[in-house]
Amino acid sequence: MSDPATTDPVADNPSSLTSSPAWLALTDLQAGLAGSSLRQLFADDPERSERFTIDAVDLHADLSKNMLNDEVLTALVSLAEQVGLQAKIDAMFAGERINTTEDRSVLHTALRKPKGSQLEVDGADVVGPVHTVLDRMADFSNRVRSGEWVGASGKRMRNIVNIGIGGSDLGPLMAYRALASFRHPDIQCFYVSNVDPAHLLETIKPLDPEETLFVVASKTFTTLETLSNARSARSWLVEGLGGDLAVVAKHFVALSTNADEVEAFGIDTANMFEFWDWVGGRYSVDSAIGLSLMIAIGSDAFREMLDGFHQMDEHFRTTPFAQNLPVMLGLVGVWYRNFFDYPTHAVLPYIQALDRFPAYLQQLDMESNGKHVSKDGSTVDYETGPIIWGEPGTNGQHAFYQLIHQGTTVIPVDLIGAIDPADDVGGQHDFLMANLFAQAEALAFGKTAEEVAASGASDDLVAHRTFTGNRPSNMILTQTLTPSVVGQLVALYEHKVFTQGVIWDVNSFDQWGVELGKELANSIIPELQSRTEPELSHDSSTNALIRRYRNNRSRD
Ligand code: F6P
Repeated sequence: MSDPATTDPVADNPSSLTSSPAWLALTDLQAGLAGSSLRQLFADDPERSERFTIDAVDLHADLSKNMLNDEVLTALVSLAEQVGLQAKIDAMFAGERINTTEDRSVLHTALRKPKGSQLEVDGADVVGPVHTVLDRMADFSNRVRSGEWVGASGKRMRNIVNIGIGGSDLGPLMAYRALASFRHPDIQCFYVSNVDPAHLLETIKPLDPEETLFVVASKTFTTLETLSNARSARSWLVEGLGGDLAVVAKHFVALSTNADEVEAFGIDTANMFEFWDWVGGRYSVDSAIGLSLMIAIGSDAFREMLDGFHQMDEHFRTTPFAQNLPVMLGLVGVWYRNFFDYPTHAVLPYIQALDRFPAYLQQLDMESNGKHVSKDGSTVDYETGPIIWGEPGTNGQHAFYQLIHQGTTVIPVDLIGAIDPADDVGGQHDFLMANLFAQAEALAFGKTAEEVAASGASDDLVAHRTFTGNRPSNMILTQTLTPSVVGQLVALYEHKVFTQGVIWDVNSFDQWGVELGKELANSIIPELQSRTEPELSHDSSTNALIRRYRNNRSRD
């Protein structure tokens, strides 16, 4: 019998994934490549930059600066085939209930199916209702944009304040910033998410309530942050407009799946734009949740964005894996996460307008694949979702790139650029793009000690000025950042995340990991608010923190 103290249950009982032929082949290939380098791979195969590129709709991706060769690519594709990726893609698009822990379909792809197409789920078409809501949104946005929709005192709406959090905030906020050059000149959108009162107060302080429309965005319409901010915003509005609650009708609309809660809040459901439980929060920017964006950029541009999503959906659904960009980005991510043990992945847009794209992707990726059990509930014996992070280049270069170039952790990166800028001044766009290309080159090929010495560095500085290289990057280029391209980029990453979730056999569509913190916060709120000393039954640390807060706050 083995000694229980020295037995590793995971190593002794590898899962069907880690003991599968494709996984074992990849393990061997990684060992074989460990002594190689990107310099070597490029020297051995001068054509690799052509062979390892993929064009998908309007995106051109160069994957050649990765630790990949033809054998690895074939083995990665075998892994995808082995886990039945195509059948799983088809199941998602068909509306099967692949979100098993919540028993739901996953149909964000139906949100961008063209008008007139059909998809039956549980005996009912879902595309018709999608377009009915889109048409209502378009009508409402047109009225706001033209000034036909006026507030309680007859003034047109110039400030749109979206109140939401997570998927009900990050998507529209990211796309609003990404599409700055398409915005209506007289309308500004603001995004309030944090329950920290400073967020709401700082946002509304300079606004005129007569010209302000609140868009309360919440799939469940029960989220503490959103409902608290919405109530406070309602008080500010009503107070600012003379104290009559009736003003809410002209200054509040709701985006939700929950008509009862919308009504209970006091918003007429005639001013509600609905979506459905088969749209996950982090997959909802293309649903009614995008209303603020539609008001900003107009319904035509919004529909162009949806078309971009749809084109990428079709690319994902129909393209063979080796030329399928979301699939390949997913597989290359798995290659690094599971076979090189790289724990993080950075997304570095060289497009200032995509400054919130990394934050958006953090939710999309980490809420989807940050799971430690597989679909059947068993603990996985492999790594799943990486830590996603990033900032726009070139700012990151002057902050954290030091570690990416010379740190002890290798961080694969996605670099995103546009050939034509929305606007240029002083030829700066060339400087931006030169930096983008230079970073990929420096990361991949580095600078050897010999090269450093030859460039005249003193002996004591050679080690400090040496770059190991072998730091992988995916380069994603587009012509220019249009609404369609924003849709393509979001769909690209949605499907990358899907691909990885299928390989790791996790449910990418639930988020039970956010529940415990919410539950505990709900139990602590009355303890903070209690007029009398509450009886606390947390651990000693939490009890002490609560007492310290109660005893030291300045307000009663
Ligand atoms: O708590 C996490 C979460 O449920 C996210 O998945 C979601 O995007 C966010 O909260 C907001 O939820 P809702 O749109 O229901 O307010």
